[in-house]
Amino acid sequence: MTPSLHDLTTRFASVPGLTFDAEKGLTRLKLQTAAAEIEVFLQGAHIAHFRAAGQEPLLFLSDEAIFQEDTPIRGGIPIIFPWFGTRRHGRSADAHGFARNTPWELTGVQLEPEVMLSFELTPSARTQLEWLPDFRVRYFVYAGEELTLSLEVENLSETSFIFEAALHTYFAVSDIRSVRVTGLDGVEFLNQLATDKQLQSGDIHFAGETDNIYFNVPETITIEDSGLQRAIEISSNALSAIVWNPWIGKAARLKDFGDDEWQRMVCVESGAVQENEVEIFPGEITTLSVTYRSTVAAGIDAA
Ligand code: BG6
Repeated sequence: MTPSLHDLTTRFASVPGLTFDAEKGLTRLKLQTAAAEIEVFLQGAHIAHFRAAGQEPLLFLSDEAIFQEDTPIRGGIPIIFPWFGTRRHGRSADAHGFARNTPWELTGVQLEPEVMLSFELTPSARTQLEWLPDFRVRYFVYAGEELTLSLEVENLSETSFIFEAALHTYFAVSDIRSVRVTGLDGVEFLNQLATDKQLQSGDIHFAGETDNIYFNVPETITIEDSGLQRAIEISSNALSAIVWNPWIGKAARLKDFGDDEWQRMVCVESGAVQENEVEIFPGEITTLSVTYRSTVAAGIDAA
């Protein structure tokens, strides 16, 4: 259960720049420092906003997002665990797992030597309805000039288990038609709309609904936005990357997404999914980490 606003405020009273409030009943942490501002919902340890000082906001959050218990938030950085999309092992359950709409514990806030927030998810009566293995997931968020995220999955069971995970990041862009994603040339991907595997040829440009899972990806992928003249470098140890934009038709079908909002976002997710799923042994810890670095530089060509 999420502690009350009063309890959180009292417990973290010594941290300057840190406040808690509620958006339609969901508890939200806000932290403002000289280097950056960040907002995180405790449900899902869901980062809804991040802006490094002097920069445009990094993330897209839908104006139609629903802030409600047990409901995923459309935008920001949902955490996908322990399965991605439709569950492939075990009985069917909600898409993308329970981590994104289950309350997490805020375990720490530090400002020095760097700003770091930490969160933890362990089994609850609710998660045990869907997932039997015993686990602990720790999430470390470093909010400075760059945003670094580290998701540590620990197996506390007596047998191994298989999981998928992803940081399902919605990036804010000027206009999806002015965006290209570089770094995946030659990488094999599954086009989820056609369900066939292909090899990426050149950069990714967007001219329609896109829902691709790339496997065994390189360490760095970049979103180049000629409208904002911004490059977002994504550096990660993740083996999978998912590139998603719903375009016009799917945007209209999503109830928590504005009809025109497909133009202002792109998801480039870092994870371990499908053929890159992870088998984790008792006592083992597996870490998924990613750093987002934005640079604004004249000279990004039109996509
Ligand atoms: C992406 C999937 O990761 O998430 C898409 O590849 C899916 O198929 C999208 O549509 C959004 O999922 P959801 O469950 O948040 O609507």
